[in-house]
Amino acid sequence: MTQTPSFFDASKQIISSINSDVYLQYDLSIATAKILINRPKQLNALNKSVISGLSHFLEDVSKNSNIRSVIITGSGTKAFVAGADIKEFKDYSFKEAEMLSSLGKKQLFDKIINFPKPVIAMINGFALGGGLELALACHIRIITTSAKLGLPECSLGLIPGYGGTQKLPQIIGKNLAMEMILTGKMITADEAYRMGLVNRVVSEKKLFDATISFSKIFQTSSPQAMAAAIKSINSCYLQDGDSCETKEFAKLFETDNFKEGVAAFFEKRQANFS
Ligand code: CAA
Repeated sequence: MTQTPSFFDASKQIISSINSDVYLQYDLSIATAKILINRPKQLNALNKSVISGLSHFLEDVSKNSNIRSVIITGSGTKAFVAGADIKEFKDYSFKEAEMLSSLGKKQLFDKIINFPKPVIAMINGFALGGGLELALACHIRIITTSAKLGLPECSLGLIPGYGGTQKLPQIIGKNLAMEMILTGKMITADEAYRMGLVNRVVSEKKLFDATISFSKIFQTSSPQAMAAAIKSINSCYLQDGDSCETKEFAKLFETDNFKEGVAAFFEKRQANFS
């Protein structure tokens, strides 16, 4: 495991998922669960095993009444999460893509959005595609000054499939969300802060401490009140745009432009869309 510096306390137990793609540690001294996505060589890309590991650990955390908040981060210093795993889905059919999107939302993304304890995304580097969608699902986002955020799916011949077309406009408004999604361009930490996309921007050295300070504040709020606040705030946004996103996402898997986008990614060149 390439730990983000000092993320886990070496003196406390670390629980690993079946294939070590995700790790969990309870820090009872600050009533916080820390979750690490551990695929640094693939820039922590979200594959099925990461999704199910995160989902499983969140179930565990939801039953632990000693825990008041959760921190999710990515291993290493280069990326929080660089997206859904392109290698895993590159040959998917419409049906498989529909399943990837709907199951991912059901198993993980909706679970985070509706999680009754605050979930903080601690963003150390790239948060792209499904990685930014994971951060958008969290209740609080803290990023480093060098982090880069974006939804580059259109440059792969796709659209975001884990809720990005729904959650991004909710957070930053339709105008800026249109620009970010249609251009697929990455934005800097400073731009993200100015758009209201993130809660705090800190130096790499301060990321961990700033995140822990945030989670300590949650110890002073009533857990029942926080759960009720999360439920109430989310109720403002109840709508069924997600199923439209899933269908549109899956339809794109049958296009030549998606195949070209994926081929261009692996050949490290610009895609030539028709
Ligand atoms: N899936 C699978 N592997 C990925 C990945 C991803 N999303 N992102 C990076 N990797 C892998 C690369 O293939 C590479 O592996 P190899 O060493 O085996 O070649 C390794 O991680 C390191 O990446 P790079 O060599 O590309 O590193 P870089 O510093 O040159 O570039 C980057 C970094 C800009 C983040 C670049 O990796 C990148 O653009 N990644 C893809 C970002 C992206 O398109 N994300 C959206 C995915 S689609 C999605 O998420 C759909 C959805 O909503 C459900």
